[in-house]
Amino acid sequence: MKKYTDIKDIANLSETIQEAIQLKQNPFQFEYLGKHKTLVMLFFNSSLRTRLSTEKAAKNLGMQVMVLNVTDAWNLEFEDGTIMNLNTSEHIKEAAQVISQYADIIAVRAFPSLINKQKDELEIVLSGFINYASVPIINMESSMAHPLQALTDGITIEELKTNKNPKVVLSWAPHPKALPHAVANSFVKMMQELEVDFSITHPEGYELSREITKGTPINYNQKEALKDADFVYVKNWSSYNDYGKVLNEDTNWMMTQEKLGKAKFMHCLPVRRNVVVEDAILDSEQSIVIQQANNRTFAAQIVLKKILENL
Ligand code: CP
Repeated sequence: MKKYTDIKDIANLSETIQEAIQLKQNPFQFEYLGKHKTLVMLFFNSSLRTRLSTEKAAKNLGMQVMVLNVTDAWNLEFEDGTIMNLNTSEHIKEAAQVISQYADIIAVRAFPSLINKQKDELEIVLSGFINYASVPIINMESSMAHPLQALTDGITIEELKTNKNPKVVLSWAPHPKALPHAVANSFVKMMQELEVDFSITHPEGYELSREITKGTPINYNQKEALKDADFVYVKNWSSYNDYGKVLNEDTNWMMTQEKLGKAKFMHCLPVRRNVVVEDAILDSEQSIVIQQANNRTFAAQIVLKKILENL
């Protein structure tokens, strides 16, 4: 693998998911692969799981890890030809080349503005590193994609499914703040690739990009959509069409035990209790969010392993 910025970078998804599940049984079997190799992780935004699980994954493979909260460094400029006489002190062209000298792999987290759709869709930060770094890039969540989370979700469903073609529903949830589309986008893409009966439910106005959802069934009736589901993935996202807006906080869309039925409850975390999902679910055995978060390590580890093998 040359990079991991989108799930399409994985050549054989089902095989990779099985490899990750095997890796989980013996996480240190490839610790020689990362000897004298360094992962630099760059955070333009907050993280708990991505930061710790990716570092753990790299260390399981014997790598050295350096983490930089980019807000502690110089303000980066991403536009070409700018007269840099305002707030930015260093251009991505130099920064990416310099960091490449310290790293064998660079991982980047950079969220969207949720103000300017066109600019967000250009993935200026991630693309800047892809264009100017001389080492492979991993996307740790960008404006429009969270492929490490999606791989985790694929692994978790594969591990826990009890029939060949489980019914999986992505269900929008209310949230007081405008949240990005990245997790939902990548989850949709992942489900489109796996052997699952997949649909999405959300209130009208919360349609994701049609380029992402393509022919995936969308049902505006949450109760109807959730009927007989095996896995329910709950996630908030802001409006895509009315870009970045919170159109409603309809508490009726919060996931309850009654609506969940017998399904397993999934969420990428962090999650707001009793806003997105009620306590009763998170505190029950139907919630698989902790196992899901554990799988972040093995999703990152299989990606790092495949990149290291290609260095
Ligand atoms: N799910 C996820 O990406 O968690 P963090 O934002 O804590 O990394």
